[in-house]
Amino acid sequence: KYLQESEVSQECKDWIATLPMEKGWLASHLHQYQGFWHITRQLQGVLSCQKHFNALHSDILIVTSPKSGTTWLKAWTFALLNRKKYPKMFQNHPLLTENPHSLVPFLELDFYKDKDLVPDLSMISSPRLFSTHLPYVSLPKSVMNTYCKIVYLCRNPKDAFISLWHFTNKLKTEGTCANSLEDSFEKFCNGVSLCGPFWDHVLGYWKKSLEQSEKIIFMRYEEMKKNPSTVLKELARFIGCPFSKEEEDEGVVDDILKLCSFKNLSNLEVNKKGKLPSGEEHRAFFRCGEIGDSKNYLTAEMIEQLDAITEKKLAQHGLRF
Ligand code: A3P
Repeated sequence: KYLQESEVSQECKDWIATLPMEKGWLASHLHQYQGFWHITRQLQGVLSCQKHFNALHSDILIVTSPKSGTTWLKAWTFALLNRKKYPKMFQNHPLLTENPHSLVPFLELDFYKDKDLVPDLSMISSPRLFSTHLPYVSLPKSVMNTYCKIVYLCRNPKDAFISLWHFTNKLKTEGTCANSLEDSFEKFCNGVSLCGPFWDHVLGYWKKSLEQSEKIIFMRYEEMKKNPSTVLKELARFIGCPFSKEEEDEGVVDDILKLCSFKNLSNLEVNKKGKLPSGEEHRAFFRCGEIGDSKNYLTAEMIEQLDAITEKKLAQHGLRF
């Protein structure tokens, strides 16, 4: 998913050197750009997509803070948009043979990652479906200047943190030390995490979703788990492909939920054995997929500390976890 550091142009390296920097727990360093932290290899893609990506009115952009359920949401949205094309969902659906990240690539990490190549996205049929981890302030301008729809997904910060901690340790290469829970926790609380501060990321989209509900839908991982069919139908309406009565009677809602379920996706050969072009194993994106798993790792003090930050930063805006 990420460029090797050697592929980052000298011009970009010089610019990165001017940014505030912290020692990372996700890569050797994190750099602060527009108030949010990014790993070195990703920044070139961030700049490139800010400069070159031209959103269309019909585009749909999935936005998440890492480990909030991106893989699942990509699967849902892809399945919703393509359900007429693949009516026999359990026989020949792309989600059976490809990882959701291959079907819905990231702007900054996939499409715009190459330093010399501006991709031609005009051939993609409409509605085009993209994804990003970018915070609201860093979105390419055309996203806000068009009717392009934004689907934002957030997750309880405690579970998102534990998921991220596991993920970063899974990505560590042999011979490198695992990130300790304590160090990672301290950095996360201080906002120093991938596309963090976590709370600012969520807040940017939350505020906009209140102002422009027709443009941004604000979804929660916990709601997807608790009321999947209600949330899936809401998403379908929001992206302009609501379920018909006939589809509901035929069980299409349940079929999509089953196709995209943790159990189904994580047991597919492609997700057990495959890798992204950038090297991450597909199985790293499927761990346990539960609400509240963080309580098995965090101490009572850590929980108290994270809850206090969340309360302080989000409650005044009407957002609680
Ligand atoms: P856990 O580490 O808590 O299990 P992302 O896709 O943003 O990287 O987030 C990954 C998290 O979503 C992981 O959480 C992963 O297990 C969970 N996940 C992946 N696919 C899922 C699915 N189909 N249903 C529910 N959760 C899923």
